[in-house]
This record gives sequence, structure tokens and C-alpha cells, in this order.
Amino acid sequence: MDKIVIRGGTPLFGDIAISGAKNSAIKLMAVSILTSEPVTLTNMPRLRDTRFMGQLLAHMGIDVKDGTGAVMRLHGKKLTSTTAPYDLVRKMRATFNVLGPLLARAGQARVSLPGGCAIGARPVDLHLKALEALGAEITLDAGYVDAKAPKGLTGAEITFPFISVGATEHTLLACVLAKGITVLNNCAREPEIIDLANCLIAMGAKIEGAGRSQITVTGVSSLSGAQHSVVPDRIEAGTYALAAATTGGAVRLTNIRSDHLGSLWPLIAQAGAKVSLDETTVLIERDSGPLKPVDIDTQAYPGFPTDLQAQFMAMMTLADGVSIIRENIFENRFMHCPELTRMGADITVTGREAIVRGVKELKGAQVMATDLRASASLISAGLVAKGTTHIGRVYHLDRGFENIEIKLSQCGAQIQRMPED
Ligand code: EPZ
Repeated sequence: MDKIVIRGGTPLFGDIAISGAKNSAIKLMAVSILTSEPVTLTNMPRLRDTRFMGQLLAHMGIDVKDGTGAVMRLHGKKLTSTTAPYDLVRKMRATFNVLGPLLARAGQARVSLPGGCAIGARPVDLHLKALEALGAEITLDAGYVDAKAPKGLTGAEITFPFISVGATEHTLLACVLAKGITVLNNCAREPEIIDLANCLIAMGAKIEGAGRSQITVTGVSSLSGAQHSVVPDRIEAGTYALAAATTGGAVRLTNIRSDHLGSLWPLIAQAGAKVSLDETTVLIERDSGPLKPVDIDTQAYPGFPTDLQAQFMAMMTLADGVSIIRENIFENRFMHCPELTRMGADITVTGREAIVRGVKELKGAQVMATDLRASASLISAGLVAKGTTHIGRVYHLDRGFENIEIKLSQCGAQIQRMPED
């Protein structure tokens, strides 16, 4: 197992090209189940999670050509299995989203329930209720979901009781081939949902309203192949923007969609960094002056993303005052707090709220990555801390950040990957 070692205290200066979005890429890969024609995805990030999804799709008979560049070709001419076994699903929750497309194309599926995940219970009840509303017969058996739709799925009106990114995407992936019209209410509005809908539309699906609360889908009998470019990763972009604001310096991020981080830029500016934007780039600059405290409150898009909460907190540990960080999406997403505290941060967590009292400096320490975004907050903290930080369990980082140490080194960070002792 590898660890990341960072010698902190160096401001970042340079350019970072942002990769395609992990959370879009893995759902886009699942569209290959819906068609017998090839799907080509460009601007694909090369990550552990996309590899896991590739393994699962290959298990179903889909030919996955994952070259060395940012292009992936998926061809599901014929499905040879409609089972997603535990060993492949337990590694990554989003693999569960193959259930809907398998049902839509093959009329049956047996998919392992995803395990709990460190950041919260993360049930899939909304996914299953939506598939049942489309006519699927679902039974649970020995940790698996057995689903059947022998006569195909049928359009329905579905109102999600609360906003769920995964349930919105999963239902969309199922209902594009359903008979008749599906109306989805209280949908998530994340850019990744628009990206998925755009790819499906390029394949011949009839979808209106992606990116709004109500999405209407008129089912079609078959979908063709398509070529689609994965939307830039707003969480990767936000992570580097926050790292630059935390360490100081001047970092330009390219290949972004700046409109996808509308909730972040004003808060970075409020914290004391200069933010200069155009459509596809952002320049973050901060001199050595103190950071100002800023409160945040995570919300579904277009609110402040839960996937940037930990990284924002790392910045606030050095603010000149107290900030309050409220996590509304996941019930257990403060696991970075004890690790940041090991580095000298002053954080008190009560329920869904963390009170962060800014300290003068962080000090390098041995810390443990606990989940993907928590790991990114430890990188930020390590970059600004005095001394050396060792971050263990970096496989979490590899799930969602392409070449993180290379990208940061290019900006002057003293960061290295090495085998754990
Ligand atoms: C997606 O997870 C992302 N994952 C998460 O990113 C992200 O944090 C989250 O959306 C919110 O933006 C992927 O896209 C692969 P939800 P998802 O369904 O779809 C509850 C990262 O670090 N819920 O919107 O699982 C759930 O427990 C990851 O990249 C139910 O109760 O999120 C949570 O509290 C982490 N029943 C809330 O809804 C359900 O059936 C929102 O979850 C579904 C969800």
C-alpha cells in the first residue's frame, strides 16, 4: 500500500488541467448496457473507480477498451451476464446503478446490494421504489436484489421524497427504454445529471428538463451508440482551488466549467483569495495575509457540495476566527476532523455541525485517509503545514483524483508517493 508524503509550507504556483468528472464517468459507462452499438467516451479520467466499473461491465460481456489516453470505448453487442456479483459491487457503490439499465435491456437483473459506506448508511430504497414504479418486480435474496420486468418497463410519474443524485440517475438510466412517458419530480440537478442526459440524448433518448426538478422522458424502443465527452470534474477543480487558497500562491485551473462551482467562488473570495474566472478557467491568488472565517452549509446542487466540505474545512482551520461547517447530506462525513486535529487544528463536532476555531499554523503529522474527499482535505492541510505529513491509505485518493501528486508537483508542491512502511 502506498502513502503520500508532503513537505509543507510551500505556496502553489502554476497551472493544473482538470480531468473529466469521476461521478459522471462511472454513470456514463453504464449507458453501454443500454445499446448493442459502441459508446465512446472522451475526456475520461483514469481512476480506480472507472477501472472497477470497467471490470463489472466486462463481467457482463461488454467489451471495454480502456486505452492509455482519455478515451474509453465500450461495446455491449450482446450481454452474457445480468448478474453484478458482490465482489465487484462492494468496491464501489455506484456500480449498483447497473440494475436499472440491465432491467431495461434484458428484462432481468441480479445485483448485489452495495455495502454501507464510511460516510453514512447510504441506503438504496429510493432507487428500488422508482424501479418498482416502472413495473419491476423486486425481491431481496441473500444480499442481492433480484429484479424482473418480463414485459419491459413502463413509464410512470415518480416523485422522489428527497433529492438523490444516484436515484435520479439510476431511474433515468432505466426509463429511457420504458414504454410510454415517465415524469420524474424532485430530481437532483447536478451537472453530472445533465451530462448523463446529454449522452443518452445523443444515443436517441427523448429527455426534457435534465438539470431542473422535473424531468420528462418519452421512452424509445432502442438506443444507438454515441460519442460523448465527459463533463469536467467540478469537485477536482474545487479541491485544487481550495488548496491554492489555503497555501497561498497563484494557481490557474484549466478545462473547467466555472458555472458548475457558482456556490464555491464567492466563499473562496470571502475567505480572502482573489478569484478571476472565465467560462473554462479560474485563477486563484492569495498572498500571505490571513484567511477569514466563512461558514458553510452543504446542500444539493446548486448549493455548496458535500464533496468539498472537508477541503473547505482544511482551509478554515487556519482562518483568523471561528467558522461553522454544517453537513446536511451525509450523517457521518466528519472523519477528517480527528485527522486535521492531529495536525494542530481546533475542531469540535456536534452532530452535523463542526465548529472550527482557526489556529496560527498546522504541523505535519502521520494521518490516515478515511474516504476520498477527506483524503483531499489532508493533502491541502499537509501542503500548508509546517514539517512533513504522511498520509496513509491513499487508495481512497486514487478512486477519484487523477495524478494528484503529479498535478500538485507541477505547482511546486513537495509531494511524493512512496510505499507504506
Ligand atoms: C453522489 O452519491 C455522489 N457519488 C457522491 O460523491 C456525492 O457526495 C453525493 O451524490 C451528493 O452529491 C456518485 O456520484 C458516485 P445521494 P449518491 O443519493 O448518489 C440518501 C464522492 O466522494 N439516500 O444524492 O449516493 C443518502 O444516504 C461521492 O465522490 C437514501 O436515503 O448520493 C444521502 O444521505 C461520495 N436513499 C442522501 O440521500 C436512497 O435510496 C443523498 O444521497 C438514496 C440516497
